[in-house]
Amino acid sequence: MCGIIGATGGDAVVETLLEGLRRLEYRGYDSAGVVLQGQGELWRARAARGTRSLEDLRRVVDGAPGPTAAGIGHTRWATHGGPTERNAHPHLDCTGRVAVVHNGIIENYRLLADKLAAGGHQFSSDTDTEVVAHLIEDELSGGVALADAVRATLRQVQGAFSLAVVCAGEPGTIVAARRVSPLVVGMAEAGEDGAAPAAYVASDIAAVLGHTRNLWALDDDQVVELRPQSMRVATLAGKEVEPVALQVDWDLEAAEKGGFDDYMSKEMHEQPRAVADTLLGRLLPAGTFALDELRIGPAQLAEVERVLVVACGSSHHAGLVAKYAFEHWARLPCEVDIASEFRYRDPVLDSRTLVVGISQSGETIDTLQALREARQWGAPVLVVANVVDSSMAREADGVLYTHAGPEVGVAATKTHLAQLAAMELLALYLAQIRGTLSPADARLLFADLSALPGLVGETLERDDAVAEVAARFTSTRDFFFLGRHVGLPVAMEGALKLKEIAYVRAEAYPAGELKHGPIALIEPGTVVLAVATRSPVWEKVMSNVAEVRSRGATVVLVANDGHEEAAAEADAVLWVPGTHPLFSPVVDVVPLQQFAYHTARAHGLDVDRPRNLAKTVTVE
Ligand code: G6P
Repeated sequence: MCGIIGATGGDAVVETLLEGLRRLEYRGYDSAGVVLQGQGELWRARAARGTRSLEDLRRVVDGAPGPTAAGIGHTRWATHGGPTERNAHPHLDCTGRVAVVHNGIIENYRLLADKLAAGGHQFSSDTDTEVVAHLIEDELSGGVALADAVRATLRQVQGAFSLAVVCAGEPGTIVAARRVSPLVVGMAEAGEDGAAPAAYVASDIAAVLGHTRNLWALDDDQVVELRPQSMRVATLAGKEVEPVALQVDWDLEAAEKGGFDDYMSKEMHEQPRAVADTLLGRLLPAGTFALDELRIGPAQLAEVERVLVVACGSSHHAGLVAKYAFEHWARLPCEVDIASEFRYRDPVLDSRTLVVGISQSGETIDTLQALREARQWGAPVLVVANVVDSSMAREADGVLYTHAGPEVGVAATKTHLAQLAAMELLALYLAQIRGTLSPADARLLFADLSALPGLVGETLERDDAVAEVAARFTSTRDFFFLGRHVGLPVAMEGALKLKEIAYVRAEAYPAGELKHGPIALIEPGTVVLAVATRSPVWEKVMSNVAEVRSRGATVVLVANDGHEEAAAEADAVLWVPGTHPLFSPVVDVVPLQQFAYHTARAHGLDVDRPRNLAKTVTVE
């Protein structure tokens, strides 16, 4: 997830770009850059590394030759290529006359880059984006207009993108387009104060709302040609279309949160995208799972005899889900350790134990130290991280990135779902290497995995129904969460969310273990939330639910749509669509996040910054 912006016309292009980038920083801040255009040649400035990159960029831009008629800008969340200045956008073609900013992933960039290199193009970054600049360069050499060159280029590109392009030959023109990744266009008429008319394009409304409320959303595979007083939108085939006008009644602060009250709900709503982006490019149409960026080759992975997962918090729960996937599909024994405990036992590890660290930040000290320990024992270490080039990603032998984009809310939501998707992919990839997965099964699982973003979206839409259930329990101070099989880590994550943001005691138990002690705590009025979606252990879960119900507990179930048999045993139901039982945590955890969210809000709490917690914990 990156942020892009473009501006042409008006009286302050440079300031508009920099201010827009500041508002887009929530989408990533690994680097920032602009290309400015006066009457012809392009001038580029870039700065890399962290939250200071925008300040650094501002200093460089102060030296720009003026005046500026148009410009494009980018704030980066690194995916392909480290977070360096070399990889910072905008990217240029060989001649320096075409500049591109891009959000998304060009899935077939390797193929395109090989072809371009064979044709003599020189690359100066490790990004997927740069191929777009070179493809446009080739198209322009045929003497066509920039918009036509962009259209011809995008017909060759697979994957997700929103991008904006300028070229030296067409001063004051910005061409922008999108597929999957969002893009809005804005037009400002001449101001009463004499301000010149202007046109804007950006990843989101917040970046341009300060300049105009005349906004339109581009649809997939539409290309817009912008000049200060004109906007022309057409399909990739060149057919002119009417873009969708946006009704915006947000102020700027609301716009930064995408119109949501807080980052947590915004990030929960970004979950379908986070899962889709994490799967993107990793499910090949041929029926194979492709994780070729891992850095640990298939030959070494084929030698692995056992998997050990270490992680903390929500990442640990993603590991607990993955254990079932490793064992079921890859037939690899798997243990999951809490990272802070792992180091202080005498772990038995060797070169055939694959140690997988899961960490959103890639910086949590407990996990980092556990992975260092594992490497000392000679075990290959693989990290599943969301932050590119984080300490864990740099030190590990291999890395598998989740593509959830930056998460601001302290309690993990979208990064957790992205971790679940990444771990399922890893298990299936290992199964493929070990030959424990038939091609027919692989194809079925593909379809199930690809459907997950849609199912998560559907579940999120039921927020009001979850809020109603949560409202019935706002004075409850003590919850039990039950689950079995993969439903257990879902229950643990649901309980953690409630503790973290609503400050309510919530204990998660394996449902079958309750009878060995904790059931003594059940009395009339005790509230039990149980994960009871369809699975091979559904009947067992329901027997455990009957045990607590008969002792007077009030039962809330997470159950699959239309499963009336489950509803008959519950006081309330959080309905979710069904999927493959091993993928069900990706969907089932969503109403539990919502339940915690609404409970916290009912208590008047700040869901983004819960007390005593930090997003990244770098102390033991
Ligand atoms: C903190 C956060 C949790 C997170 C945990 C692990 O405690 O509050 O939300 O799950 O750290 O973080 P990591 O970055 O390693 O996934």
